[in-house]
Amino acid sequence: MCGIVGIISQNRFSVKDSLQRLKKLEYRGYDSFGYCYDGHLKKQVGEVVIPQNGDLTNKIICHTRWATHGGVTDKNAHPHLSCDKKIAIVHNGIIENYQELRSTLEKTGHIFTSETDSEVIAHYFEEKLKSMDIRSAIVEFFKDIHGEFAIVMTIQGDNNLYAIKRDSPLVLGIGNDTYYLASDIYAFSDATNNCIFFENDEFAIVSDSDYQFYDKKGNKITKTIQQLGWTQHTEDKQDYDHFMIKEIMEEPTVIERLIFSLKNEQKENLNKFLEIIRSSKKITFVAAGSSYHASLFGVYLFHKVGVNAQTLIASEFDNYVGLDDQSVVIAISQSGETMDVIEALKYAKNKGARILSIVNVPYSTIQRMSEVSLNIYAGQEVCVAATKTFINQVVLLMYIAHLLGLDVDVESLSNHIENLFKTKDKIIQIAEEIYKVDDLYILGRGIGYPIAREIALKIKEICYIHAEGMMGGELKHGTIALIEEGTVVISIMPKSNPAIYSNTKEVEARGAKIIRITNDISTTGEINVMHIKVEDETIFCILSTIVGQLLTYYVALKRGNPIDKPRNLAKSVTVK
Ligand code: G6P
Repeated sequence: MCGIVGIISQNRFSVKDSLQRLKKLEYRGYDSFGYCYDGHLKKQVGEVVIPQNGDLTNKIICHTRWATHGGVTDKNAHPHLSCDKKIAIVHNGIIENYQELRSTLEKTGHIFTSETDSEVIAHYFEEKLKSMDIRSAIVEFFKDIHGEFAIVMTIQGDNNLYAIKRDSPLVLGIGNDTYYLASDIYAFSDATNNCIFFENDEFAIVSDSDYQFYDKKGNKITKTIQQLGWTQHTEDKQDYDHFMIKEIMEEPTVIERLIFSLKNEQKENLNKFLEIIRSSKKITFVAAGSSYHASLFGVYLFHKVGVNAQTLIASEFDNYVGLDDQSVVIAISQSGETMDVIEALKYAKNKGARILSIVNVPYSTIQRMSEVSLNIYAGQEVCVAATKTFINQVVLLMYIAHLLGLDVDVESLSNHIENLFKTKDKIIQIAEEIYKVDDLYILGRGIGYPIAREIALKIKEICYIHAEGMMGGELKHGTIALIEEGTVVISIMPKSNPAIYSNTKEVEARGAKIIRITNDISTTGEINVMHIKVEDETIFCILSTIVGQLLTYYVALKRGNPIDKPRNLAKSVTVK
């Protein structure tokens, strides 16, 4: 994971501005940060702190870390230096054979100061540069290193930045007098629309006035500059206390933006997407986290309209899914960069499958790997927990299902959400009642099942409460043993699914305190009933998700948690 930024320019630019660019990549990790320019090195645990001095430079490398190898300490923060401190590197990825490389380098006298896999890179180049030029050293690096890497390197007394990529994302932004190397376009999209994405096993040497790309054998290659047609601008919190609540409140707007795009600029792609679905025998979704829950929602709706569909979590995809050249795989990913999804797509491509995708971040790796890709147009989501992006994923799937025959009034959704927001006080009241619990269970059946899982995930990651979202029918095969007097159970109860009523009664009979989310008005009079006045089960379930999102927010607020950046997590998971 981790975010990297390298900037080089003919003109001096402010260090403060560079760190503001790094801050835009914090969704990739925020355990520690660091940067180095003109002999200054800063490494510190915690979120990126923007320096208040007026320092200027014309070359800098910066890093924000999500720890993999080595604890969260100042020493393990990047940049990492060679023994002579002349080489500085920032790295995103994992060097799999670092132990072997490290012990070889230690035998030749190199002294390591961190526990990371990344530090080996600086020492590796220090050693190689004793006997060869930098271009040859990078060619050797591609041969010797196992693992994934996006690296930006500086060498004292040398005017270039060196950028090396295998698997982890890296892009060169081309400004008027400035070049930006970054994990993604957010770091520079306010400054330029022109960029070049690195492909695997490529490197570039970037000076203040020119750049040159090479393949892994060191041969010069010519790459085409891509013009970014639509980039997401960086969001600020406006008057909200947290991005999470701001992003939930944006849901009606982003839904409308998505639907508009599907009727206009995305119409052609949507038609191609539909054509491929219609002509396939079976659709296989692949995704992780919240996007996986969206894919379950998609499977349910696709079955309803007679499309054979299945889904599997990306990290186990190749172990459990058989594919062939008749297969169609739809990847769902907010970031478009989740490594497990990318690996699953590589597996699918090798089997000859056609690849479609649903992403939020434009120009992301997954979008670029796809034959056809639809964008959910949710805009940048800053809070680590997915809220508006999950909603737009399911809205897009509902829209597709609707075009394939599902009877649902898609256009009415944003009005329903506005109405739901008016009942916020009721949700705050429920939050006040449950915020001290240690365990929570959320039950759903049918289309309510993915929603139960999504709400449980929100509660775990933002409230730090153990929560299980499960199939109402599965409960009695074990989990019911955990229900005791006062255990809180949230039940997603669309009228259309009477079996969930029995499952809810089963836990109630064992003393559980039930919070019912339902569209059944006959449940009036009971305590802890959250009414959603809409008949349609698909719309009802989307609205129930939003109840869960708001409940999560208010519970976390009561618990005093760091809502937008929960511990140990990152928004984009770019390691296996
Ligand atoms: C991380 C994020 C989740 C997200 C998951 C999949 O775990 O914290 O919010 O759902 O990755 O990410 P993707 O970008 O592929 O949707």
